[in-house]
Amino acid sequence: MSSIKKAIFPIAGLGTRFLPATKSIPKEMLIVLDRPVIEWAVIEASKAGIEEMIFVISSNKNSVIEHFDRSEILENALKKKKKIDQIGLVQSQNQLGSFSFVIQDEPKGLGHAVWCARKFIGTNENFAVILPDDIILSKIPAIKQLMRVHLKTNGGSVLGLESVPKKEVSKYGVIKIKKRYENYFSISNLVEKPMYSQAPSNLTVVGRYLLNSKVFNYLSLQKKGYGNEIQLTDSLVQLTDKPGLYGIEFNGKRFDCGSKFGFIEANINFGLNDGDIKSNLKGMLRKL
Ligand code: UTP
Repeated sequence: MSSIKKAIFPIAGLGTRFLPATKSIPKEMLIVLDRPVIEWAVIEASKAGIEEMIFVISSNKNSVIEHFDRSEILENALKKKKKIDQIGLVQSQNQLGSFSFVIQDEPKGLGHAVWCARKFIGTNENFAVILPDDIILSKIPAIKQLMRVHLKTNGGSVLGLESVPKKEVSKYGVIKIKKRYENYFSISNLVEKPMYSQAPSNLTVVGRYLLNSKVFNYLSLQKKGYGNEIQLTDSLVQLTDKPGLYGIEFNGKRFDCGSKFGFIEANINFGLNDGDIKSNLKGMLRKL
């Protein structure tokens, strides 16, 4: 078993790609199938053995806190109505792990958001970072696939990767490959949103990371990078020294629920994966 027991979920961004929906509803609370996007990400972490869920929030994200809290009023009302199955459904959220919250006072970038949670992570401790607007359908939880590489590499830091057509690389953080192994890579460098001609590969970093707390040494310098934001990507090169920085193209289908298209695609795919509605949904899609 991996020793990684903590995950940071940075959710203090503005969600501008999904306005006006995200004006008052955090994008993490938009519903995919029958639960908010953030719950799918927490389920992934919990299934991988992570026990401490640390959310970096902004002040308008109280609904996220409420979702993972117990609601005795609701439980009592369901009890009176003898809705036993539903009681189980609303009790399951706070059984996924322990929950902590820290506020990022201003959206200064993903690197800054992760840094805001530094007090929860010990010296020389490895931890996960999960961007919950990326949700993943897979047999083995994506973050667990990263944990396997972490073990294989004697404690290396590991990034979730996806290959994209070369002309799209300028939208992402891109890795430079040091060496290819059977199903993972070692990484010698990273560039945030490079120009097409300067991209070191077409392998891009997506919302799953296993990092060593050494990364906070760089993040505490608060250096601004691309877009005048404190970028997590810029700090990752600090992890290339032994035990090293690695990446894996995990098995699974990723959906970017921070965008309209990704969100609709996620709903359709999660629906097709749901025993209760899949045949009706298939029938409906065939008729389109
Ligand atoms: P994104 O760039 O995808 O999210 O950041 P965003 O900024 O909310 O969305 P757009 O681009 O304006 O539509 C990736 C993750 O990092 C978090 C976001 O909440 C998201 O989960 N984040 C980003 C922070 O927590 N703080 C920040 O300062 C920036």
